[in-house]
Amino acid sequence: MRTWLTDHLQIEIPVVSAPMAGVAGGRLARAVSAAGALGMVGIGTSADPAWIEQELSEAASAGKPFGVGLIGWSVGDPADILPLVVAAGPALVSVSYGGELSDWVAGLHDAGITVATQVGTLDDARDADAIGVDVLVARGAEAGGHGRNQVATLPLLQAVLEEIDAPVIAAGGIATARGVAAVLAAGAVGAWVGSAFATATEADTGPHAREAMVGAELTDTVYTRVFDLAQRLAWPREFGGRALVNGVTDTWAGREDELERQPAALTALSDQVVSARADGDVSVAPVYAGQAVGLVSSVRPAARIVAELATAEDLLRKAAGL
Ligand SMILES: Cc1cc2nc3c(=O)[nH]c(=O)nc-3n(C[C@H](O)[C@H](O)[C@H](O)COP(=O)(O)O)c2cc1C
Repeated sequence: MRTWLTDHLQIEIPVVSAPMAGVAGGRLARAVSAAGALGMVGIGTSADPAWIEQELSEAASAGKPFGVGLIGWSVGDPADILPLVVAAGPALVSVSYGGELSDWVAGLHDAGITVATQVGTLDDARDADAIGVDVLVARGAEAGGHGRNQVATLPLLQAVLEEIDAPVIAAGGIATARGVAAVLAAGAVGAWVGSAFATATEADTGPHAREAMVGAELTDTVYTRVFDLAQRLAWPREFGGRALVNGVTDTWAGREDELERQPAALTALSDQVVSARADGDVSVAPVYAGQAVGLVSSVRPAARIVAELATAEDLLRKAAGL
């Protein structure tokens, strides 16, 4: 399958494994890139330079193009982190979720790196296009992890493709070849897949979280800020996160403002969530995942997931014969 993305990045399959902090390290990115798609490393809100260097060099060790995803509001000064990222030689860097995206574009372009950002509304897409981002990732509200909760993938993708000339990758809710085929047929240049790769053998997902993800149904996720409040993470309010439902979300999802007004309850919840994370107790700790987690029923090596997603080509051929 050839698209702008495969031609531009010199990859074989128009699929990107999403940057996922704490889940998508060098091992997963390496495996995805080695299989012919684009593997990305997710750099989280507390990653240190030594970790970044190690994970990016592992991703690069496949000798194939790979990507890096940064979280805009938390990544800090481009002058500090850009040299580290550029030195690793990624083909694509995404900067998503707040911060000054325009501060990154020139430096990345000077290093010959393609710049992406995840957009959750048409206004986001217009802003990113105006500052020269090369490829927009239209990320719908059904997606896993943090982001906006305003528009679902399909309407967002259609709107962005209609209006913006820049290449667009679709994200959110894609976990099988059918999803890849659907977005490519609509005009996307690729699919940006998170939750499905979070269950891969090579992901840094803990064993309990992986088991919970594989067992989850389509209806087992919820969008909430409760885990950010509990972990005292300064995520901007508009970027909550989609996670598996559990005891904490049953009590607090939808009541985040109330929780913020109750310092004692928040402190108690913080203690619980911090210790549950340490113990891998997913009945309390967050397991970030999107609705597409309900399409995943087994743990597979990343190369197997890539190979299955690549069969979108057969579906597109069939559809072309309509
Ligand atoms: C566990 C997890 C962690 C994530 N962490 C990040 C991150 O660090 N940076 C980022 O840009 N996006 C992050 N995301 C969002 C993904 O890039 C992507 O938007 C999403 O996974 C796509 O939807 P899907 O999960 O339905 O495939 C994360 C998603 C998940 C599931």
